[in-house]
Amino acid sequence: KAQQTVQKTIKTTAHRGASSLAPENTLAAFMKAAELGCDWIEIDVQLSLDKVPMVIHDRTVDRCSNGSGAVAELALSSLKQLDAGQWFGQAFTEERIPTLAETLCLAKKNNLKVNIELKLYPQDDVQVLCERISEVITESQCIDTQLLFSSFNAEALKRMQNLQPQIRRGQLWEKIPTDALANLKEIDAYSVHCDYRFLTERQAQQLKQSDYQLYCYTPNQPALVEQHWGWGVDMMITDKPQAYRAILAYAS
Ligand code: G3P
Ligand code: MG
Repeated sequence: KAQQTVQKTIKTTAHRGASSLAPENTLAAFMKAAELGCDWIEIDVQLSLDKVPMVIHDRTVDRCSNGSGAVAELALSSLKQLDAGQWFGQAFTEERIPTLAETLCLAKKNNLKVNIELKLYPQDDVQVLCERISEVITESQCIDTQLLFSSFNAEALKRMQNLQPQIRRGQLWEKIPTDALANLKEIDAYSVHCDYRFLTERQAQQLKQSDYQLYCYTPNQPALVEQHWGWGVDMMITDKPQAYRAILAYAS
């Protein structure tokens, strides 16, 4: 019985890579996740000015690089000149904002599965984002089951269902809405990803009864989600996958 508990406890996705140990959404953070033995990384993808899928969370480059301005207003060549690591620590000055193509290449080599969050800010074009991402995925020759799309934007997930129907889809919600099941059916979802702080036991039960995978973001201390495992939550999307590995080491 104790062994079963441990098995559940270690199911984690490295949120933006192992983002407590290396600058988020960089190849260094993804390599760190691989070194920790994570199965999954989560990445945020949006388009550059010249419509290249880039891996970066914020609308602007200001917080996570030495540059400034909106990602959507900077071309790939400009984005690639930025230092995306120094803000986190001197050891990471070589880091650049990765493209989706570079990230998928690293993931493939290191046997990492990738949760691709389709990141849409106001003014972004859903169709172009989905088409460009779809093209990169096809070129990457990744195995479909190694990838998962997630988004707060249901239209983006719907478009991906048409473009890459074989790749599974997860609906992101901060708080799960009352009409969740109808929405999930609409996009033939595989999973629901919600903020752990707002999930209730009843919502978890309903989703599990309907056979959806249930993921929580972003509990950075295992103790915050002790009860969630009992509710049937399948995976934690966390900045600190190493904290969950420590639990395994202790329990075994
Ligand atoms: O996948 C969960 C999480 O990434 C969603 O929120 O803002 O960190 O992209 P955010
Ligand atoms: Mg994200």
